[in-house]
Amino acid sequence: MDGANGRGDRRQAKRLHRGALGQVNQLPRKNSDGELPVGLTIEKTARNLAALATSDSLRHLQAVVLGQWKHGDTFAKLAKHGIRPVDRLLFYGPPGNGKTMAAQWLAQQIGAPLYRVQCETLVTAYSGQTAANVGRVMEWLALQSRSVVLFDEVETLFQSRTRMDGNIGRDLSSAMTVFWQSLDRWEAPTLFIMATNLPEHMDAALKSRIDLQIEFGPPTDEQVASVAAYWSEVLHEYGGHEWGASLAGRKWESFRALFHAVQSCVREFVTR
Ligand SMILES: Nc1ncnc2c1ncn2[C@@H]1O[C@H](COP(=O)(O)OP(=O)(O)OP(=O)(O)O)[C@@H](O)[C@H]1O
Ligand SMILES: [Mg+2]
Repeated sequence: MDGANGRGDRRQAKRLHRGALGQVNQLPRKNSDGELPVGLTIEKTARNLAALATSDSLRHLQAVVLGQWKHGDTFAKLAKHGIRPVDRLLFYGPPGNGKTMAAQWLAQQIGAPLYRVQCETLVTAYSGQTAANVGRVMEWLALQSRSVVLFDEVETLFQSRTRMDGNIGRDLSSAMTVFWQSLDRWEAPTLFIMATNLPEHMDAALKSRIDLQIEFGPPTDEQVASVAAYWSEVLHEYGGHEWGASLAGRKWESFRALFHAVQSCVREFVTR
C-alpha cells in the first residue's frame, strides 16, 4: 500500500484540496485589516447531508447548475463565447424548507467554500452606511477564488421600490446601485444565491436579473417517508426501527419541524 509511505495520503489530500475545475481552493483572503466584512460569515458545508430528501428543487439544481459548475470543460467552453454559467439563483419559499441546506449542498458538491451574507445586518439608519457595507462585502468577495455566496433575507436589502420611502429608501437605492455596478464588473467565479421568504417584497430589477428561480416548499408525503426511512435505519440498532412509521404518517409544515421531531427521537433512543 503506498499509503504506508504517505504518497497515497498526500495524493488524496491534493485531490480533496483541488476544486472540480482544477483550481486550488484557497483559504479565504482577508481584508488588509484581517477582518471579515460586517454581515459576512463563513458557513459550514460539511454537514450530514446523507439524510437529505431528494426534491424537485435539488434535482433542478443538479441538472442545471451542477452540470455547469462541476465540470471544468463546460465552464471553459462557455467562457470562450463570453457567456457566464448560470450563476445568479433565487431560492424562495416559507421558512425551514431547505434554502440554506441547498446552498450548503451545492457548495459541497462543487467543492467550494460557502459565504453567507446576512443582508439585514448591512442595513443601517446611518446615511450612506448601507451602501458602504455592501461595497465592502462585494470587494471582499471579489478577492476570493471559486465560491458560493448566499445572500440571506435578501428582501431586507433589495426591497421593492414601491416599499421604499424617505432617507432609508434613498440609502437602499444607492446600496443597490453599488451592488449592480460591482456585479457588472464581476470576474471572480462566484455562484450567487439570493434567498427569501418574501419574494413579493423584492426589487423587480433584481428578480429580472436572476438566471434561475427555485421554490422550496414543505415536505411531500414521499419526502417525509424517505427521511423517516433513513432515520429508522439509523435507529435500528437502538430498537427504534418501527418508529419511522409515526413520522411518515403525519403532515409536516416544514422540513425544519420534521427534523426537530427526528432530533428529539434520536436523542431519546440513543440515550435510553
Ligand atoms: N431536502 C431536505 N431533506 C431533509 N431535511 C431537510 C431538507 N431540507 C431541509 N431540511 C431540514 O430542515 C432544516 C431547515 O432547513 P433550512 O435551514 O435550509 O431552511 P431555510 O429554507 O433556509 O429556512 P429559513 O427561511 O428560516 O432560513 C435543515 O436544517 C434540515 O435539517
Ligand atoms: Mg435559511
